[in-house]
Amino acid sequence: MVVDLRHKDFPQEASAAPIESLDNQQSVVLTVEKLALSLGGKEILQQVGFSLPASGVTSVIGPSGAGKSSLLRCLNGLETGWSGSVQIDGSDIRQWRGGWDQLRRHVGLIAQKPLVFDASIRANVCFGLHGWRQRRRADELVKTSLQQAALWDEVCERLDAPATTLSVGQQQRLCIARAIAIKPKILLLDEPTASLDPRSKQLIEQSMLQLAQAIPLVCVTHDLEQAQRLKGQVIFMCDGRVIEQAASHQLFNQPQQIETREFLRWNVCDCD
Ligand SMILES: Nc1ncnc2c1ncn2[C@@H]1O[C@H](COP(=O)(O)OP(=O)(O)OP(=O)(O)O)[C@@H](O)[C@H]1O
Ligand SMILES: [Mg+2]
Repeated sequence: MVVDLRHKDFPQEASAAPIESLDNQQSVVLTVEKLALSLGGKEILQQVGFSLPASGVTSVIGPSGAGKSSLLRCLNGLETGWSGSVQIDGSDIRQWRGGWDQLRRHVGLIAQKPLVFDASIRANVCFGLHGWRQRRRADELVKTSLQQAALWDEVCERLDAPATTLSVGQQQRLCIARAIAIKPKILLLDEPTASLDPRSKQLIEQSMLQLAQAIPLVCVTHDLEQAQRLKGQVIFMCDGRVIEQAASHQLFNQPQQIETREFLRWNVCDCD
């Protein structure tokens, strides 16, 4: 059930119950501590800390400019000028074998605007694969990746057609298929369904929930109902900081911080 937050009365006092973070229930695969980033002389991220369980979706919510996209860019090494610690399976990502390029193969990032290459649908899925010309293996991988991205049924008859002929919703699912073809350890999605039609949004959410059974997904979204549908845990960010991290049902029903309550109710936050 999705709660309409505009009419919800949140408890005014912090609940006596501990915050039900998923970390207590599952092994942690990614740990972020004291992450800080400055760009152009401005502090973009400050003292960011959180952890990701080995599977499930973590939604990142917060007002525009909170630092959500910047955070994702730090996690997959597109932004490298940060301080603090980011560890995957206990290993510091700065020491990743093969450097940032290899890290990006393990930590996929899907942008809001789908980026497809001017090539066939098949070639787009195979883009990150080494030795993809081994056709038999590639064919299997193309099929399973497109199935996992909930796109196979729509494109199986035209795998050699240009990817640019797909609709925007289909292109976004193609980007997901391309990212999962290289079997990432973690998948980051930055507003993957913003400006998509309801059907495409539903298909992408289905695909995310399926993928999240095996690996952790981080999904930045402005759609609070989506964050509730994706379950898992939610991180609320504002002004470059993590204000609250909790299991989805806990954060939406019993937010502990006044900033979170205000944001859920009014969709604005005044953290400055
Ligand atoms: N290269 C840069 N130089 C200076 N400031 C930057 C740079 N990149 C981002 N910022 C600033 O960092 C802040 C956080 O940006 P970011 O894109 O991470 O926010 P966001 O939470 O993803 O916002 P939105 O919800 O609008 O996508 C913003 O104030 C932005 O203007
Ligand atoms: Mg953003």
